[in-house]
This record gives sequence, C-alpha cells and structure tokens, in this order.
Amino acid sequence: MDRTFVMVKPDGYARGLVGRIVARFEEKGFKLVDAKVMQLSRELAEHHYEHLRSKVFFDELVDFIVSGPVFAMIWEGKDAIKNARALIGATNPSDAPAGTIRGDYAVDVASNIIHGSDSDESAEREIKLFFR
Ligand code: TYD
Repeated sequence: MDRTFVMVKPDGYARGLVGRIVARFEEKGFKLVDAKVMQLSRELAEHHYEHLRSKVFFDELVDFIVSGPVFAMIWEGKDAIKNARALIGATNPSDAPAGTIRGDYAVDVASNIIHGSDSDESAEREIKLFFR
C-alpha cells in the first residue's frame, strides 16, 4: 500500500467542499491515515512549491495558498499517488473531465481547489513537511 499527500486548498475549504472531497477518496477505496485543518505559513508554502520558484505564477501561488485555511490529508491505497491524481484531474480544470474533482468543482488553474503529490519522492517529502 502506498501513501500520498492531498490538500484541499483555501478556495475548496472556503466553499465547503472538504466533506465531498473526503467522500470521493473513501468511495474510491482509499483509507484516511491522517488529516488536519492548517493555516500555512509563507515559509511552509514556499518550501512546498520550491520546484516552481522560477515560474511567473509563483508569488501569486504562494499568496493564494496562505490566503486561508487548508485541509491536509494523508491517504493510503494501491497506487495511491497515481490513483489520487486521476481522481483530482488535470492541473488546469478546463482540461479536467467531468467526474474528476477539478473537472466538477473548478474552472481556474490558479484556484483549482486541490493538491495531490505527483511522484513517490514528492509524496514522501510533502507528508514529512505537513505531518512531521
Ligand atoms: P503544478 O505542480 O504544475 O500542478 P499540480 O498542482 O497539478 O501538481 O502547479 C502547482 C499549482 O500551481 C497548480 O495546482 C496551480 C498553480 N498554477 C498556476 O497558477 N498557473 C499555471 O500556469 C500552472 C501550471 C500552475
């Protein structure tokens, strides 16, 4: 069984989507290992998105992710990283089909309501970073 890190971003939390998102992961067959509401510091946010520091949208991304509470989760399941990314859908919600979380609940890439680790390495790093 693999573990992955998933986070409902401030827009998803503010819109009251936490319960529906948790339900989707449970319905798919994932097991919830740990979860908490957090207010991210700028330091943690910059660390989390370190690999995107050179991107033009980096400052906007950090401002957004610290703008309100998030809901951080660890999910366990078979091929957890790949299967969670499939439930979440493409980074740009316009490219995410209906039936995926971003496809159903978001329209804008800058506020795409949810994060999921994209590799074994990032899952391990992010779980440590958010649940040390
Ligand atoms: P990235 O790690 O590429 O995507 P994902 O979240 O699907 O793993 O990007 C991180 C976040 O940065 C993404 O969820 C939304 C934001 N972002 C933008 O605001 N504009 C962009 O053009 C891109 C590619 C991402």
